[in-house]
Amino acid sequence: MIGTLLKKPLEVVETNFRQPSGPAGQLVGHLMTLQHRSLTVWAIEHMDVRRSQRVLDVGCGGGMAVKLLAERTPRGFVAGVDYSMDMVTQAVRRNADAIARRRVEIRHGDSAELPYEDASFDHVSAIETFYFWPDPMRGLAEAHRVLRPGGQVAITLEMSREAAADPSLVQRYFGKHFTERSERDGLHILSGAELTGMLSEAGFHDVRFVCEPRRSLGWVCALGRK
Ligand SMILES: C[S@@+](CC[C@H](N)C(=O)[O-])C[C@H]1O[C@@H](n2cnc3c(N)ncnc32)[C@H](O)[C@@H]1O
Repeated sequence: MIGTLLKKPLEVVETNFRQPSGPAGQLVGHLMTLQHRSLTVWAIEHMDVRRSQRVLDVGCGGGMAVKLLAERTPRGFVAGVDYSMDMVTQAVRRNADAIARRRVEIRHGDSAELPYEDASFDHVSAIETFYFWPDPMRGLAEAHRVLRPGGQVAITLEMSREAAADPSLVQRYFGKHFTERSERDGLHILSGAELTGMLSEAGFHDVRFVCEPRRSLGWVCALGRK
């Protein structure tokens, strides 16, 4: 009974995580921005971002990563791309000052066709978005294309197979339960090793991953260099 009552709201939340749209999308966008703040801070800590570098955040949602990355690059430039117009609007609002100073820009666009020239960024990040991309290898090829030689990619997810491999029984149970549930909904939940394998296949080198199996459903951040 409670399961049935909860099903509809859960479906609304899940659909709007994938591509926020309309009033529900706006609300979910604000909630996910808050919910992902600590994951975002953690992801950025692992990126080797310097003050004058150019960074692109793909699937930028409400623009929190863009804002934090712009603080890390006071003499650089940060761009955000998202295929939801509602999220583009939120990200623009959140970064209005930096946009006015031309230090940040937000564009409507798809991971499969990034609206930037070859070799135009030092870093490409993608936080809690990779498993929604219809063709993840195409998205990685695009990240590779827009990175300059030596540039760094960072793919971060809050749900991975690392949770189900954790020694803690509770984390193993929830990790397994949500992995199976997400797979039934068409999301492919990856391990850190699978993610780094995909980065190598896309042509990145020095690939590695860091994980926090006990945070949420197994935080993972996979990194590589062009
Ligand atoms: C769960 S939200 C995460 C947003 C933000 N990165 C964060 O951590 O709060 C996923 C975001 O990825 C965007 N997205 C999903 N697939 C995309 C794609 N193929 N190209 C561009 N954006 C995409 C969605 O519109 C949504 O804003």
